[in-house]
Amino acid sequence: MPLEIVRNDITKMAVDAIVNAANTSLLGGGGVDGAIHRAAGPQLLEECRTLHGCRTGEAKITKGYRLPCKYVIHTAGPIYQDGQHGERDLLVACYQNSLELAKAHDCETVAFPLISSGVYGYPKADALKVAIDAITHFLFENDMTIYIVVFSKDAFEISSKLFSDIEAYIDDVYVEEHLDSPRESIRSRLQSKYLKQAREYEELDECYEAPTAPMVASDACLNDMLNQIDESFAEMLIRKIDERQITDAECYKRANVDRRLFNKIKNNPLYKPSKQTVLAFAIALELSLDETKNMLMKAGFALSHSNRADIVVEYCIMTGNYNIIEINQVLFKLDLQPLGY
Ligand code: APR
Repeated sequence: MPLEIVRNDITKMAVDAIVNAANTSLLGGGGVDGAIHRAAGPQLLEECRTLHGCRTGEAKITKGYRLPCKYVIHTAGPIYQDGQHGERDLLVACYQNSLELAKAHDCETVAFPLISSGVYGYPKADALKVAIDAITHFLFENDMTIYIVVFSKDAFEISSKLFSDIEAYIDDVYVEEHLDSPRESIRSRLQSKYLKQAREYEELDECYEAPTAPMVASDACLNDMLNQIDESFAEMLIRKIDERQITDAECYKRANVDRRLFNKIKNNPLYKPSKQTVLAFAIALELSLDETKNMLMKAGFALSHSNRADIVVEYCIMTGNYNIIEINQVLFKLDLQPLGY
């Protein structure tokens, strides 16, 4: 997955380069800066001394020494005042200059902390948004795997409304594996009746709604099914890309899927993508819920109300939220597997 948010200690990241949230002296400090210097050993400071500092927004590179990475890219983030003093532009420059330096050194994997969101006081949610915007902009033109390493889950807030709405939706529809309340056991009997009936419909090659809803085959989905009865997942993916008049690159970039994986799917009709990959393409193509279920079926999957990640994706599709990074933030916050790969 080209962009992934992970919870870790950045000094443990085995990547080509980690980025240090340094200060303009480049002579060490607290937070990430202190952690990186402690883990890298004294040689890092010795090399930093030769760099003669770094202006805010700029980036300089050293070796990684005892760290499990080849390079450390040092950048000095802006000190947040009130957001009216060019802080955002300087923070964007930190990411852009660090990424250009990583690219110039043939790095394929890079890990960022949330620059300026600690001692320098940049509001974490805004700092994350700037990081995501700057990195996704770079990824539209470049192939690289980039990690945003958050030290603790509260290091970023998702829009509380989105998060609470999704949690409420999960509560409404999530079907526990082991039902205990009488209402749930009635519901499950109903569901198994619908599922049996749905399987009969399936044999008739008709599309069907989730078991809890009355059987309605939507036109779009039924036409899809009848017109492309032998279509593979890959053929459907390519057809949907053409229908939306976007390029392959736009599609896999929006899906936050690696170019190599996309080419594997495109060139090998028998390749079986993961459910997260199929859902990532459904989001990138902004498919309806019916079309998404149809595409999942082509890859041998189905949305399930006993899978919380499926419910999150279902909610986002039904509410027209096709922002895969935001969806992945919610999945990350719920300790669920992100979309993409
Ligand atoms: N791994 C990943 N993230 C970390 C780690 C770690 N080991 N340690 C801290 N963080 C997180 C913090 O929680 C914060 O969200 O990194 C983010 C950046 O925080 P700071 O390290 O305080 O960096 P910044 O806000 O950019 O301030 C830079 O602090 O350490 C000094 O010398 C540094 O003067 C400079 C200033």
